[in-house]
Amino acid sequence: MLEAINLTKVYEDGIVAVDHLNLRVENGEIFCLLGANGAGKTTTVNLFLNFIPPTEGTALIDGIDVTKEPLKSKNYVSYVSENVMLYGNFTARQNLEYFTRLAGKKNFSKNDYYDALRRVGLQEEAFEMKVKNFSKGMRQKTGIAIAIMKDAPNIILDEPTSGLDPKAGAEFLTLIEQLKEEGKAVFMSTHDIFRAKTIADRVGIMKEGRLPLVKTKEELLKEDLNKLYVEYMQEKIKS
Ligand SMILES: Nc1ncnc2c1ncn2[C@@H]1O[C@H](COP(=O)(O)OP(=O)(O)OP(=O)(O)O)[C@@H](O)[C@H]1O
Ligand SMILES: [Mg+2]
Repeated sequence: MLEAINLTKVYEDGIVAVDHLNLRVENGEIFCLLGANGAGKTTTVNLFLNFIPPTEGTALIDGIDVTKEPLKSKNYVSYVSENVMLYGNFTARQNLEYFTRLAGKKNFSKNDYYDALRRVGLQEEAFEMKVKNFSKGMRQKTGIAIAIMKDAPNIILDEPTSGLDPKAGAEFLTLIEQLKEEGKAVFMSTHDIFRAKTIADRVGIMKEGRLPLVKTKEELLKEDLNKLYVEYMQEKIKS
């Protein structure tokens, strides 16, 4: 479970990127965060991962305060960024093995790693290729495999589908749904309204660091998320 309580980030230059955000993502729930460029999505993600300290408020991962117990909290969360960081001179399988071991999981065979790479749809011939020449989508898939192998109860993804081709994007949705079925809490920022509507149990539209609009799947069956988003862009919905 992920929880933000009055979570606030004011950067050194005075920009209020996240403004007293209150949010809870339950186990077995997919929460998609929409919002214009600069709305505060990545900052929210970075606060949950304790990459940056909050100015005020608390981010909790399975009830663990990420600033008070950073190492412990990291055990309970997997992270996929928009630009996955990998070691260029390692192959996809070696990256997967390295990061999985780093996460404290050491009892896997080569075949287990291959299975994970297969599950995310990386082509077989790329398994033992150095990742330095990988396309963005191939890197993304490797990053998602790393997150799956870590098998943490919470997963945070910042624009994970940017760079994926349509087929990979659709496969990715299936994967995320499987993770939800396994009971994981999934928190994902995206610009893809269509995908958000398809997989999310709840969708939030972030604006100027706040979350003025949160809709459940049931509510979105009756409403047009596209239209809501446009209205929000046109400032008809006040934060
Ligand atoms: N390291 C930083 N120092 C100062 N200001 C920052 C920093 N990172 C982000 N900001 C500012 O904080 C605000 C929120 O940025 P953030 O990256 O969280 O937005 P975002 O919703 O992820 O946008 P995008 O959709 O473009 O990824 C923006 O005004 C941005 O300029
Ligand atoms: Mg961002």
